[in-house]
Amino acid sequence: MGSLAVELFGKRLKNPVMNASGTLGYGVEIEPLWGVETMGAYVTKGLSIKPHHGNPTPRVWEERYGMINSIGLQNVGIERFFSHYFPFFEEKKCPIIVNFFGFSEEEYVSCAAGIRPHDLIVALEMNLSCPNIKKGGISFGKEASAVHAIVRSVREATRIPLIAKLTPEVKNIAEIARAAYEGGADGLTLINTMPAAVVDIGRRKVPLKGGLSGPILKPVAVRAVHECSKEVPIPVIGAGGIMDTQDALAFFMAGARAIQIGTATFVDPFTMPKIIAGLESWLDDNGCADISAIVGITHE
Ligand SMILES: Cc1cc2nc3c(=O)[nH]c(=O)nc-3n(C[C@H](O)[C@H](O)[C@H](O)COP(=O)(O)O)c2cc1C
Repeated sequence: MGSLAVELFGKRLKNPVMNASGTLGYGVEIEPLWGVETMGAYVTKGLSIKPHHGNPTPRVWEERYGMINSIGLQNVGIERFFSHYFPFFEEKKCPIIVNFFGFSEEEYVSCAAGIRPHDLIVALEMNLSCPNIKKGGISFGKEASAVHAIVRSVREATRIPLIAKLTPEVKNIAEIARAAYEGGADGLTLINTMPAAVVDIGRRKVPLKGGLSGPILKPVAVRAVHECSKEVPIPVIGAGGIMDTQDALAFFMAGARAIQIGTATFVDPFTMPKIIAGLESWLDDNGCADISAIVGITHE
């Protein structure tokens, strides 16, 4: 039988499938349907130093080929996550990736510094799509020099492997990937949502501006993975519109060492276990011993 196990940041994961941050609550919510330990690793909701209440409703909007969300980074804060939710992952022996953010460089640094290394923590994932309050609200992830600087500061604050999660809202994502790598990132997650808006025709209003996710994002994400995995020698985790096994395979072949699934879970909460089973069958049907054999195969 083909193996889905992967080595990532010095840890062995039973498979390369994870949830995308912010789309599987605190992990406990999916329990009535399937266990978080089904995945190679669970990715936390974006966490910050202080708790955030998030935005008023409407926060989500369904589009024809995706969805728009403006949750406003609602979360319980780092401290409460570790005191209240982390024991659940310890009990399940489920590896986790801690997604975090800040509104200033100092907040990113204290967040990372406040997370103690643990056997189950595979890596920290920095969400670089956040607005920098000190720079007029421009996102940290939009300029190579800002990405380099913030990744370097966070890198110095922690021993835990560091993943930079990039926004696609840039001219040249490979350049941003290089800046993150040179700043000290151990891996990249590609991509976050794209800015979008909705018009309510009846009310003649824009009820929601937020981040676009889902199938409409897939080709953009595949291109980012393809370009960045050629640009830098660190693992790339692919995210954006993965709905089924075929989509997942496209990301591995484009160069992703692991994948994250977000919006698809809202459509079918069993998408992740189905994709894991689908990848196992694909390996067997194609006489492929190891998922790593197809990673970046399109580069040749
Ligand atoms: C409801 C919702 C909440 C999200 N929250 C976060 C978050 O807290 N931090 C983050 O880095 N990305 C967040 N994202 C982005 C996803 O992790 C992912 O990068 C993006 O949705 C693309 O994947 P998908 O098309 O499979 O959903 C969120 C996405 C959605 C739909």
